[in-house]
Amino acid sequence: MARILITGSADGLGALAARALLSQGHQVILHARNPARAQAALAAVPGADTVLVADLAKADEVLSLADQANALGPYDAVIHNAGVYQVPHEEIFAVNSLAPYLLTCRIESEGQKPRRLIYLSSGDHRGGRALLNNLERGTSYADSKFQILLLMKAVARAWPAVYANALDPGWVPTKMGGPAAPDDLDEGYATQVWLAASEDKAAKVSGKYFYHRKPVRCASGVEDTFLQDAYIARLELISGVKLE
Ligand SMILES: NC(=O)c1ccc[n+]([C@@H]2O[C@H](COP(=O)([O-])OP(=O)(O)OC[C@H]3O[C@@H](n4cnc5c(N)ncnc54)[C@H](OP(=O)(O)O)[C@@H]3O)[C@@H](O)[C@H]2O)c1
Repeated sequence: MARILITGSADGLGALAARALLSQGHQVILHARNPARAQAALAAVPGADTVLVADLAKADEVLSLADQANALGPYDAVIHNAGVYQVPHEEIFAVNSLAPYLLTCRIESEGQKPRRLIYLSSGDHRGGRALLNNLERGTSYADSKFQILLLMKAVARAWPAVYANALDPGWVPTKMGGPAAPDDLDEGYATQVWLAASEDKAAKVSGKYFYHRKPVRCASGVEDTFLQDAYIARLELISGVKLE
């Protein structure tokens, strides 16, 4: 049985992944933005262990989420699922880019980092940029999904004992995807469930980008190790929190 934390699991792909992992016998810790959404998360995912509360748009609450999570003990996997789309660019940067970085740096309990880290990117990352000198002013959705791939690649290089991977869930009909989304909703959470808990050799890799459980190429800019390092250095400077 694996112990898995999923950010943004009050509904959408986070709640669906949580339910799938529970049905496989795993232990799931949920996360929601405020107490009311935390109640909704527990109602949407019966059987979850508990729910942690933090607004990921606020860096101090993100750091407190890491502390709350660490107090519960070490994790086998963290799924960095929470995301926003049609909101101001400052909020997109805070939730989609900075929060997963801070949680990646800070979630460590009893000297153990999570053994698997899974990051939700998007096919939209192909139109994204690193924006090194303008991060604080905010990023577009595409930029944020490019940046989360830089983070994943940097983590995979820095921490060889951890499986760090990312995925494109496809354009699927959640609150974010909208009712007309054409891709298969079940495939939208299958990859993160598999990466989080499967003993399949193909899931125990690092530095890969997946679509429907198959490794696919990401935008070539993401592979640039100098860009990865420069991006992490900018996040360190902005937040005062180091990836180590
Ligand atoms: N759906 C798609 O077609 C699609 C395509 C590509 C990538 N993705 C990615 O997949 C991930 C999941 O998306 P989804 O489709 O499941 O979207 P969703 O239904 O909108 O769910 C997003 C989740 O993130 C939470 N969240 C957003 N802002 C937050 C904040 N400030 N603090 C705490 N939690 C916050 C939301 O909480 P509330 O419910 O309280 O708002 C919700 O639980 C995202 O990273 C998204 O970018 C989705």
